[in-house]
Amino acid sequence: NSSFALSRHFLIHTGSIFVKAKKNINDIFGDISDYVIETTNFVEGLSESQGQGDIVDKAEAETFRSYVFKINNIREVLTRDHMKVAFFGRTSNGKSSVINAMLRDKILPSGIGHTTNCFCQVEGIDGHEAYLVKEGSEEKLNVTSVKQLANALCQEKLCESSLVRIFWPRERCSLLRDDVVFVDSPGVDVSQNLDDWIDNHCLNADVFVLVLNAESTMTLAEKSFFHEVSTKISKPNIFVLNNRWDASASEPEFQESVKAQHQERCIDFLVKELKVNTVKEAEERVFFVSARETLQGRLQEANGLPAHTGALAEGFQSRYFEFQDFERKFEECISKSAVKTKFEQHSSRGKTISNDMKLMLDNIFERINDLRNQKLEQKKFLTDRISNTETQLMVVTREMKMKIHNMVEEVEQKVSKALNE
Ligand code: GTP
Ligand code: MG
Repeated sequence: NSSFALSRHFLIHTGSIFVKAKKNINDIFGDISDYVIETTNFVEGLSESQGQGDIVDKAEAETFRSYVFKINNIREVLTRDHMKVAFFGRTSNGKSSVINAMLRDKILPSGIGHTTNCFCQVEGIDGHEAYLVKEGSEEKLNVTSVKQLANALCQEKLCESSLVRIFWPRERCSLLRDDVVFVDSPGVDVSQNLDDWIDNHCLNADVFVLVLNAESTMTLAEKSFFHEVSTKISKPNIFVLNNRWDASASEPEFQESVKAQHQERCIDFLVKELKVNTVKEAEERVFFVSARETLQGRLQEANGLPAHTGALAEGFQSRYFEFQDFERKFEECISKSAVKTKFEQHSSRGKTISNDMKLMLDNIFERINDLRNQKLEQKKFLTDRISNTETQLMVVTREMKMKIHNMVEEVEQKVSKALNE
């Protein structure tokens, strides 16, 4: 019980790092947006004011305007951002059961045979009523009960690579409160369109969970699917769950050797084949669990009973503990590496935009300086000319004055001479 409480605390604590990080980066882009709008208005003012055409040309003003759109786009993507976790594996390995166990409720239909017939995305909403929306439609289909959801999904003749979005009240599940979105898939063995799957549903996934059947072994279909994924995504974050581990309880004498064999194969797959992890990292990515049992245990707990009353076989506690351990490592991965990779591209785009703007503003400033210097020189030239003219004038007037003075004197002399004579 105490480890359970601890892990719950951990889930709530680390999960919110993503939500916090998202708020922070959103606020920063809000500030950038204000700044960009202010600058754009200023620059547009410059380009429109008469006689200033040589400072900012039309194309430049246009580029500034495009920054406003770019920043707004980033902000829009950011507000829609969530942590997307996609689950893959063969039919009936228990993908839907793992998601249900993590969500602590029978949300997705699970059962024997080929159950999940299209992609199902579970995401959080603020209201109290769950609903689902089919791809290409806006209509909110009511989901009053889990059973009805299962029926609704069965009745719809959906293409296997299409997507049904299930909106589930956040208040019912802490992982949904933390902006985690779950994507369930049909078995990788039933589809011919794995390429479409990867393009449509995997490229923006932050974490992948490969759900294996511990009663058999990893199949070629599962391997090649992840090989394909890792050609399109550099270093995908992958967790491997050996599910149905409760079955091993019926053969205790082989349990350890089977576990060692699975463990070695899974680690080799991550390290040597996909080359996404070091051995040390991969050891923290492979788990032996029982999803059905964990879900049963959690449902029992929700009803006030001890979790082990949901046990399917001997050794419940260690399997239950391993499931919680998986969730802890999963949360850790989401809050550290995934937050980094998720926001890294946004912040580097933000940096590029502000750098470009700085360069452009520096250019404009330089041009304004040149223009000012030019005008100053013009002014100096004019003042010089004026003062030259003034001196010339002075010289001329002084000479004239002298001349007149001399003339007057000459005339005076001549007159007085004439008078005397
Ligand atoms: P598809 O959607 O058909 O691809 O299958 P899936 O991978 O989603 O498997 P699902 O969760 O529907 O599980 C298939 C069956 O296996 C169901 O009857 C589950 O109850 C059962 N099951 C799932 N996990 C476990 C487990 O850990 N132990 C046992 N014993 N049964 C399990
Ligand atoms: Mg399923």
